[in-house]
Amino acid sequence: MRDHHDDRGIPGYNLGSPEVARSPISIEALDELKKSCLLTDEDVIYLRLSYDVLEDQAENLVAMWRGIIAHHPHLRHYSQDVNTGAPDEEYGARVGKRFAQWVLDTARAEYDQAWLDYQYEIGLRHHRAKKNKTDGAHTTAHIRGRDLIGFAAATVAPLRPYLEKGGHSEQVVNRMLDAWWKSMILQVTLWSQPYMNPGDF
Ligand code: HEM
Repeated sequence: MRDHHDDRGIPGYNLGSPEVARSPISIEALDELKKSCLLTDEDVIYLRLSYDVLEDQAENLVAMWRGIIAHHPHLRHYSQDVNTGAPDEEYGARVGKRFAQWVLDTARAEYDQAWLDYQYEIGLRHHRAKKNKTDGAHTTAHIRGRDLIGFAAATVAPLRPYLEKGGHSEQVVNRMLDAWWKSMILQVTLWSQPYMNPGDF
């Protein structure tokens, strides 16, 4: 699987390709979930405003999130080779590129079928169902659901200084940050589906 490229040239980032799992929920169900998250059209405007602010900072953001993971043994072991215990650097680099692209796709906020399907795929890739498969890696097989969900806070809470770099007013920065929280909760909710008992989602 190591040579799958999408049209953005990021190995394994195949949003929109037929290899991606199909979301078990419909676009209508996604619309309901957006309402549960209070994610409105106005939030979409602020997410898209954050695109230009974050575009050149995506790699820095990934490095910052990596720093949080590296700081905690229970998180960093998910990227360690099960046989040697050493960090799998190649895996880390490949996943990092996809993570940076995810920042941009979150800011793009195009909630179509391809996006919905890819959210299911991202959940599967944290779960034992598909972790390691995209990169042919041999790291820890499964990210615990509680770590996946909890890390949503670690993803968005440190964003403010990065959003401030765009030179927008404090009020606008606050709205972008709110929109990021809502989007993150929406996404991690979708990602949690493979972790739930059948019928419980
Ligand atoms: C809610 C917070 C999280 C976000 C926003 C996030 C984001 C992402 C993204 C965008 C990808 C790439 C998906 C793709 O293949 O296109 C990914 C994969 C991955 N993430 Fe996360 N993640 C989160 C939580 C975690 C946690 C807590 C860990 C463990 C420390 C983790 C470790 C990984 C690993 C190891 C992969 C690669 C999975 C594979 O083998 O394909 N993630 N994550």
